[in-house]
Amino acid sequence: MLNLVLFGPPGAGKGTQAELLAKEYKLVHLSTGELLRTEIKQKTALGIEAKKLIDKGFLVPDEVVVGIINNQIRQNKEANGFIFDGFPRTIPQAKQLDELLKKYDESISTMLCLEVPKEELKRRLLKRGADSGRSDDANEEIIENRINVYNNQTKPLIDYYKAQNKFNIIEGNGTIEQTCQKLIAAVNTIK
Ligand code: AP5
Ligand code: MG
Repeated sequence: MLNLVLFGPPGAGKGTQAELLAKEYKLVHLSTGELLRTEIKQKTALGIEAKKLIDKGFLVPDEVVVGIINNQIRQNKEANGFIFDGFPRTIPQAKQLDELLKKYDESISTMLCLEVPKEELKRRLLKRGADSGRSDDANEEIIENRINVYNNQTKPLIDYYKAQNKFNIIEGNGTIEQTCQKLIAAVNTIK
């Protein structure tokens, strides 16, 4: 299996690029953000609780997202591999993902970290907010909080993957196509 972690701050292009990479390598795309938004739309108990945190730009509890990912992996045992988008976001999530994959004799192949300047992140998210986007793109305060949460709680994962020799930094400030080519080049070096 090819199991990729697509990493980076809010607005870096994880969702956009994960879709393209999933097509390129025939992977199952798992976005915890999208899976949580589906729960919100369906008004499940999990979705109602998650919405309170998401709308302020805070993370939902580790056990909630790990549970969701566990179900998805179990339902896709025949996959060529997975592309994890927006997951893991904390050290406990990363450790539990490694444990989950180990049960299937699998592991993360590599982590790809999209780097985009903060001003561009804000520009992209405010634009999506204005173009009838997501509730967590609604204003600059929520977006700032999401970026702060990324810096404080998620960025430490860089060292986690560096220690496993699985860290790749990809410049993500170009066009969608340029960034995609850089990601494919990085993945092809480990394939
Ligand atoms: P999640 O849905 O993961 O959101 P996020 O990380 O904040 O990031 P985005 O989805 O906004 O950005 P992206 O990097 O995917 O970029 P995109 O391709 O969309 O999480 C939402 C919330 O759910 C979290 O805040 C948290 O509460 C909760 N959650 C999710 N996972 C969790 C977890 N594991 N643990 C705990 N809580 C979790 O692009 C952004 C915009 O830019 C788009 O409009 C796009 O069209 C545009 N764009 C993309 N690429 C380019 C480009 N190259 N040039 C110009 N524009 C571009
Ligand atoms: Mg996304």
